[in-house]
Amino acid sequence: MSDIQKEERTMSNPFENADAAYHVLVNAEGQHSLWPTFIDVPAGWTVMLDSASRQECLDFIEKSWTDMRPKSLIEAMRADSSDFSVEYVECYVGDLDLSVANWVDNYAFKVIGEAGSPEHGFRSRVLRQNRVVIVLTQAVAADHPAKTYVDLHGDGVAKIALGTADPDVAYQRAVQAGAQPVANAEDGEGSAVRRTVIGFGDLVHTFTEKAADDAGLPVGFTPLSEPLSKPDIAAQHLEEIDHFAVCVNAGELDETVSYYCDVLGFDEIFEERIVVGTQAMLSKVVQSRSRKVTFTIIEPDTTCAPGQIDQFLAQHRGSGIQHIAFGAFDAVEAVRTLAGRGVAFLSTPGAYYDRLEERISPRKHDLGQLRELNLLVDEDHGGQLFQIFTRSVHPRRTLFFEVIERIGAETFGSANIKALYEAVEAERLKSGEAGA
Ligand SMILES: [Fe+2]
Repeated sequence: MSDIQKEERTMSNPFENADAAYHVLVNAEGQHSLWPTFIDVPAGWTVMLDSASRQECLDFIEKSWTDMRPKSLIEAMRADSSDFSVEYVECYVGDLDLSVANWVDNYAFKVIGEAGSPEHGFRSRVLRQNRVVIVLTQAVAADHPAKTYVDLHGDGVAKIALGTADPDVAYQRAVQAGAQPVANAEDGEGSAVRRTVIGFGDLVHTFTEKAADDAGLPVGFTPLSEPLSKPDIAAQHLEEIDHFAVCVNAGELDETVSYYCDVLGFDEIFEERIVVGTQAMLSKVVQSRSRKVTFTIIEPDTTCAPGQIDQFLAQHRGSGIQHIAFGAFDAVEAVRTLAGRGVAFLSTPGAYYDRLEERISPRKHDLGQLRELNLLVDEDHGGQLFQIFTRSVHPRRTLFFEVIERIGAETFGSANIKALYEAVEAERLKSGEAGA
C-alpha cells in the first residue's frame, strides 16, 4: 500500500467507504456494529460476519439485529415480568354507589377502602374478594379522566395495576423500552401517578408495590372508616383474576402483542384464527413470566363478515377490555351462588350437553351439574377447565365477566373461544330478534 493510499484511508471516514471490506461485530449486549477489516477488533466484540462488502454487512445487520434493546434490558424486563401480579383493576363508573351495590350484592365483594374526595375531583371505593381487588372510581370534577372515559366508553376498565417488588425500576425499564408515560395522571394516588404508562386504547397500567398480604389494601388507598357492608364470606368463591380478554381494532393485534412482549417483558403463549360461520377473528395470548397476568387479545378479521368483535369496538368506541375472567376453586359452587344472588349467565344450548361426552369425560363435576348451570367444559394437554360467561348488563352490551375453574388446563382451547363466540352470537341474535 502506497503512502498516498494510507493517507486517503486515514483522511476519509473508514465506516463510509462503499468499496472497502467490513466485518459485522456483536457485543455482549447483542448490539451490532459495522467494522473496517483493517482495524483490529476491539475488546468485548466478536466477529459475526467476516470480511464482506459494506452493503452485505448492512443487510446482515438489518436482518439479524431486530430487537434494538440491550440484552441486559431485555433480561431485566423479563425478570420484572416474572414478578408481576394483578394488584387491582380500576373501573371508571358513572354512578359509584350503584356500582358498589352491584359488586357487593351480586358478586359478594367486600368494600375495604377508599380514595379521593370532591377536592381531589374523584371518589373511589376499593372492593376485595380473596385475591381479586376492584377499584371503582367516579369523577366529581368535570376535567377528571374518569369523566372523559365514561362519556366516551360508558363504565369500563380503565387501569390494571401491576404489582411488583420494585415499581420504580419496572416503570423506568418500561419507559426505556418504549412505554408512553401518562402525563396527566390523576391526583390522590401518591407515588402511583408517577408510574403510569399507556397500555392500549384508553387503558393504562400503573406499576405499584404489592400489598403486604392477601387481605391488605393496595398502596395509595385508605381503609374505610366504617365498613359499608358485612361480607358474605360463604359466597366468596372468586379467588383471583385468571385473565383479561381484550378487543382491539383491526390491524392492532400485532402491535398490542409487541407492546406486552417487548415493552413489559411478557411472552406470547398462544395464537389462533377462529372462524364461526361467515365471521372470523384473530386471537393471541400474552402472559407475564410470573404467569399471573394474562391477556387474550382479539381483533376482527375484516376479510369476513362483521360480528361481535366489531360490535364491541363500535359500542365501546375503540379497543378495550371485553371481559374479566375470575378464577374459582369450584365453578359449580361459584356459579350456583352468583346466580342465586342475581348474576345472569349466558345459557348453553341443550344439544351441547347431549354431545359433550363424545368429546370429553368431565372430571369433578358431573354432566347434570354442568347442564343445570350452563357450564362449558374443555380439555387440553394439561387437563380440563370449566367456564361460563355472564350476560352483559352494560347498557352498551360491552363489558361482561367469566367464571373459570382450571383443573390442570393451562391453555385457551379453541373449543372455549369458539363456544364463547357462539354463545354470545346466539345472545346477540336473540336480543336483535327480541328488539325487532
Ligand atoms: Fe375468557
